[in-house]
Amino acid sequence: MSGGEFDEVVLEARNIVKNYGGTRALKGVNFEIRKGTVTTLFGENGAGKSTLMKILSGVERPTSGQIILDGEPVEFASTNDARDRGISIIHQELSLAPNLSVRDNIFMGREIVGPFGVDYAEEARQTRALLEEMQLAIGPDTLVHDLRVGQQQIVEIARALSVNSRILIMDEPTSALAAAEVEVLFGIIRDLLARGVAIVYISHHLEEALEVTDHAVVLRDGTMTAKAERKDIDLEWIVRNMVGDNFDLGSPPTGYDFGPPALAVTGLTVLDRENPERAVVNGLDLEVRAGEIVCLYGLMGAGRTELLEAIAGREPIASGDVLLEGRSILKDSIAERIDAGVGLVPEDRQRDGLVQTFDVGTNLTLASLGRSLVRGVISRRTENDRAKALIADVTVKTPGPDLPIGALSGGNQQKVVIGKIVGTHPRVMLLDEPSRGIDVGAKAEVFRLLSDRARQGLAIVYSTSEVGECLSIAHRIIVLRRGRISAEFGPDATKEMIMAASGEAVAA
Ligand SMILES: Nc1ncnc2c1ncn2[C@@H]1O[C@H](COP(=O)(O)OP(=O)(O)OP(=O)(O)O)[C@@H](O)[C@H]1O
Ligand SMILES: [Mg+2]
Repeated sequence: MSGGEFDEVVLEARNIVKNYGGTRALKGVNFEIRKGTVTTLFGENGAGKSTLMKILSGVERPTSGQIILDGEPVEFASTNDARDRGISIIHQELSLAPNLSVRDNIFMGREIVGPFGVDYAEEARQTRALLEEMQLAIGPDTLVHDLRVGQQQIVEIARALSVNSRILIMDEPTSALAAAEVEVLFGIIRDLLARGVAIVYISHHLEEALEVTDHAVVLRDGTMTAKAERKDIDLEWIVRNMVGDNFDLGSPPTGYDFGPPALAVTGLTVLDRENPERAVVNGLDLEVRAGEIVCLYGLMGAGRTELLEAIAGREPIASGDVLLEGRSILKDSIAERIDAGVGLVPEDRQRDGLVQTFDVGTNLTLASLGRSLVRGVISRRTENDRAKALIADVTVKTPGPDLPIGALSGGNQQKVVIGKIVGTHPRVMLLDEPSRGIDVGAKAEVFRLLSDRARQGLAIVYSTSEVGECLSIAHRIIVLRRGRISAEFGPDATKEMIMAASGEAVAA
């Protein structure tokens, strides 16, 4: 997607090493970024991508190695320091302050000051312009905690854009975005490239990343293992270099009969929190049988998250009913629904999925503590064994259950969120964009795990904005559009049919 006439190196990393205690995250990496081009960085979960980017943007200091900016060696004391030299980063983990407005988040630490103090009106004006550029229909005073994850991600992008950097690092910028929003971002990337901005792009949506690539680089276990120009590579090259093997995500599990309905939703209506005149889920009926995997596909705002959260008891229901194996759970609390067998893998892992102050093992077993009871007392040993089993089940890359959760790579944190719910042995499992940031190999593992559980009678509702995932995992694909079911397909549907039913523009 290069801007054309540029190609000089603006930033170079030489022989970068980064140790975290005994973990050697980077083992001497050389990396360069060129003006007006996109360098994409591929690699499995835990390969060291975010670590390298944190070093280039002043978040972390390297253990050893050098950073050369415009031919001069530099050391960044902080992110502000890197930002002053024209480098900014869109973080993989959302880093906004939830209790502040969108405007305050964008201008935090670099307020616009006029003769009478902070010029809030000017900040609001610039925020509005940025949001408009990103096509996000919210006001500058909206509080961040009222935003959905996808909207937060767009604000995160807007904040990085507001700085006018020469080097922009995007670490999984689209993991919570739907195709239409990704297109908006790509339009912006094209403009930036034409102005000579150098971009680093990281994404586990490989097709999408390939679309913007000029230079591709693969990291594996802290080492650079492959490097190529766009014209010399394809999807197969990326996967082969990332995981050393080429495979696909498989197809929905077959060879068994579904059981009776495990989940039934009838006439379900959920109102918009901000505008109760509007229904975000509108009189919806849905039935999922034991052993069946149903995919929910739709654009951002179609009502998928609200539907799943309403079933799990996290979103008030205006009318309708939710039946678990024939019994209404409408009056049950969130905890009672979990006990009854409703497991939700939530959209927002930072807010709802993980306890940041706990280690990996505790995060995995907390939701199912009852299973660690031995004669009425919580057994540390049983808990530890269960944690280890879950780590293996969902292939979390960690030296053990005792690591703080924040020390895991983004994709591995997401695997913990999934493992935690698997550990509660639900009857119905609801997954809201569960593949966020998970590498291809791990995604295949998760799909295998879900297929196995489905065979054993688990009913699964899998919500995603990646059509390819629906076709690989689901027996039935339900498309949501403005709170209603707009279409239903079997596994023989095409991507185009599904996308068209969602209201998405399908490229000819
Ligand atoms: N603060 C920390 N303490 C200990 N280990 C850490 C810390 N931060 C990162 N690591 C480890 O460094 C390695 C590289 O992690 P990194 O986040 O760079 O991976 P990544 O390539 O970005 O993966 P993902 O695709 O999952 O985002 C991992 O093994 C991770 O557990
Ligand atoms: Mg990462």
